[in-house]
Amino acid sequence: MPLQVSFIFGGISTEYDGSISSLTNIISSYLAIPDAERPFSVRYLYHVSRNDGLVRTIRFHRAFTISELQGYLYDTNARSGRSLLVTFDTIKSRNEYIVNLLHGQFGEDGGVQTLAALSCLRGTFGDPRVASLTMNKYAMSSFVSSILPSEIVKVPTATLVNPGNAADAIKTAKSLQRPIVVKPNSLGSSLFARLFRDPEQSEQEIEALLHAIFAYDSAALLQEFIPGDEYTCGCLVGSSGAIPLPVVKIETNMQFFGRDQKQSRSAAKRAVIDTDDEISSIIQSVTHSVASSINLCNMARFDFRVSHDSVIWFLECNYIPGLSKNGSFEKMLHHYGMTVVDLISWIASDSRPFIKPAHYIKYECI
Ligand SMILES: Nc1ncnc2c1ncn2[C@@H]1O[C@H](COP(=O)(O)OP(=O)(O)O)[C@@H](O)[C@H]1O
Ligand SMILES: [Mg+2]
Repeated sequence: MPLQVSFIFGGISTEYDGSISSLTNIISSYLAIPDAERPFSVRYLYHVSRNDGLVRTIRFHRAFTISELQGYLYDTNARSGRSLLVTFDTIKSRNEYIVNLLHGQFGEDGGVQTLAALSCLRGTFGDPRVASLTMNKYAMSSFVSSILPSEIVKVPTATLVNPGNAADAIKTAKSLQRPIVVKPNSLGSSLFARLFRDPEQSEQEIEALLHAIFAYDSAALLQEFIPGDEYTCGCLVGSSGAIPLPVVKIETNMQFFGRDQKQSRSAAKRAVIDTDDEISSIIQSVTHSVASSINLCNMARFDFRVSHDSVIWFLECNYIPGLSKNGSFEKMLHHYGMTVVDLISWIASDSRPFIKPAHYIKYECI
């Protein structure tokens, strides 16, 4: 049977807009390919509304256009939605393959992955426990530093802050007299991530930022600032293991790839690094080691800093990398010889599916 896929996108997270950009890029790239050359057919687009959390099903067809998609997104209230669980029952009954583009909370942190596993859905959801590990920056950094020596990759010193220990954590950060980054432990897109060059002078601002973060995340990080350059490395995870993609270096003003820089196309320059470059090959090897040590499926993207003494610092692992037009992941793919449409086709046909382990032990058979 020819390959068929459906997409789930939108969602109830702070990364809703990123999800719309990922889907729009994939669908416009797909529509640009002549019908007969498309490597798969698209069945349905499932839009999870950020307003009511309900799912509206968009039936894909040959003459589908991006303006039709935009029309659906603009006027979600015009159509009635269904709950995610009811939608999952329908998806299961149609035996669809689902590409999960729900970035951020619930979509990327083990939430939807658990529901998908319980509903026995086919698709890119992957292992719920791995999603929740990667989304937790503090836990993921601890994991990376436990499997790789600090001569190869370091992790910035960080304090995990919650509303109960915030005052003490700020006091400690002030006493260090060094620049710090304050950021949510589990949100993405650099939302609420800020650099404080002189924490001593910024106590009230840090307090206010933490207060804002705690409305969306149960924990924040106060992390030592790593001056230097920003690098990111994607990987594909196929049936024969992890394949690191070419490394992208991101040049930003003020050495910080914050939300403003991410949203403005001109504030950050992304360039693929030569594979012979030493930093690039170490980053690829770190990416390969970490990706091979956790049960990743499909793809992921790892973010790093490289300080002026060429030390490599791990920042985070993105379980569902953004696939927007001209974004870092698309740049890596193009350099590797793939488009986002090839990526979806490759994932649906070659990536390693997550097999939910049995949880009922028949002791008499062991
Ligand atoms: N410890 C740090 N030192 C220097 N820059 C940092 C540090 N932590 C975060 N940043 C900057 O903030 C951006 C966002 O942080 P990151 O940990 O990647 O979270 P996310 O991308 O999920 O928001 C990074 O791309 C980087 O530019
Ligand atoms: Mg990041």
